Amino acid sequence: MRKNWKVGLVGTGFWSSNHLQAWSRIPSVEITALCDRIPEKLVDKAKQFGIVEDRLFTSLEEMLEKTDIDIVDIVTGPETHLRLITIAAKAGKHIMCQKPFAPSLSEASAIVRVVREHGVRLMVTENWRWLQPYQALKNVLDKGVMGKVRAVRFHHKSLYTPRMSPDVELPQPFFRTMPQLLFYEMGPHWFDTWRFLFGTPKRLYAELGRISPYIVGEDTGVVMLSHEDFYGHMDMSWATGEEVEGLLAEEIRNEWVEQMVIDGDRGTVTLHGTGKFKEGRITFTDLTGVEQVLVPSTLADTPESHFRLQSHFIHCLNTGEPFQTDGEQNLVTLKMVFATYQSAEEHRPVEIY
Ligand SMILES: NC(=O)c1ccc[n+]([C@@H]2O[C@H](COP(=O)([O-])OP(=O)(O)OC[C@H]3O[C@@H](n4cnc5c(N)ncnc54)[C@H](O)[C@@H]3O)[C@@H](O)[C@H]2O)c1
Repeated sequence: MRKNWKVGLVGTGFWSSNHLQAWSRIPSVEITALCDRIPEKLVDKAKQFGIVEDRLFTSLEEMLEKTDIDIVDIVTGPETHLRLITIAAKAGKHIMCQKPFAPSLSEASAIVRVVREHGVRLMVTENWRWLQPYQALKNVLDKGVMGKVRAVRFHHKSLYTPRMSPDVELPQPFFRTMPQLLFYEMGPHWFDTWRFLFGTPKRLYAELGRISPYIVGEDTGVVMLSHEDFYGHMDMSWATGEEVEGLLAEEIRNEWVEQMVIDGDRGTVTLHGTGKFKEGRITFTDLTGVEQVLVPSTLADTPESHFRLQSHFIHCLNTGEPFQTDGEQNLVTLKMVFATYQSAEEHRPVEIY
C-alpha cells in the first residue's frame, strides 16, 4: 500500500543536492529533516528545500529522537556508515546509503548483519547504472542484437587530477589526500554498472598508476575482467587529455566521457563517448560492416539518475520487491573494488567467486 514516506537526510555536503532534488520530486515522499555535524552546512540546503529550523540537527541520534521519520538517507563518507547505519537500524528505519558502502569488506559485512538483525531494508546509492546511457544500453543488450557477448571494452576519460594544484578550489578537496582514489571513489559505480550489464566476473587483474603530482592515490588504471566465456577490460583515467576538446570549464570538475564497445558473435554494439556535456549515440555494426543507429543520443543525466534510483527505492518499499543494489549485492561490488587494489599490489589475478 502506498503511504507518505518521511525522509531524514544525513550529510548535507557536496552531493546531497542530487538526493534532495530527487526526493522533492517523488510525490509520496516528504523531506522531513536534515542532519549535518557542521551547522553551517545545513543552512543552504534547508533554505533551498524549505526545511524549517527546528528540523535541522547536528546528530542523527537527535534527529531520530525529535522527528518521526521512516527513511534515513546517508550521504556521508564510508568511514561513517557502520556507525550511522547501526543507529538508524536500531531505530527501525529503512536506509539508503551512499557508496563506497564501507572502507573494508568486514565493515560492509557487519552493516549487512546489523540491518538483517533489525529487520530494516538497506539500499546502496549506486546511481551510475541509472544514468541514461546505461539504462539504454541495458535495453539494447537485453534484446541480444550482437548475439553472444565475446569481448567488452569500457573507457572513462577525464582531465581532472592534473588540475588539482593546491591553489584551486575543489568540490571534494579530500580527493587530494585519499590513499586509494580512482577505483575506491569510482570503482563502486563502474563495477556495479558492469555487473548490471554483464553479471559478475570470476576474476580480475589490475594495473594502477598515478600521473598527477597533486594527489596521493591513483588516477589511472586498467582492469581485466574474466567471465566464464568472455572477457573485458576497463581503461579508466582522471589524467588524460584524450577527450578534452571543448570540454574544460573554469571550475575544476570531473568532466568525464565514457565509452563502451561490446563485440558479440553477430556484431558490435558501441556506446559512443557520452558524458555530462557530450551526447553519445548507441550503434550496432553487423558482421558485414553496416552500422545502424539504435539510440540517437544519450547524456549522463545525473539528477535524473537519482530520480530513477530513489523512485526505485520507494517502489521497492511499497511493493516489497528486492532493491537492485541492496547490501548483499553491494558486498560483491565492493569485493571487486578491493580485489583491484590487491591485484595491482600483488601483480596477480584475484578471484571474485
Ligand atoms: N553517487 C555519486 O555519484 C557520488 C558523487 C559524489 C559523492 N558521492 C559519495 O557521497 C558521500 C559524500 O560525499 P560528498 O562529496 O557529498 O562529501 P562532503 O564532505 O561534501 O559531504 C559530507 C557531509 O557529511 C557530513 N558528515 C560527516 N560525518 C557526519 C556525521 N557523523 N553526522 C552528520 N554529518 C556528517 C559532513 O560534515 C559533510 O557536510 C561519499 O561517500 C562520496 O563517495 C557519491
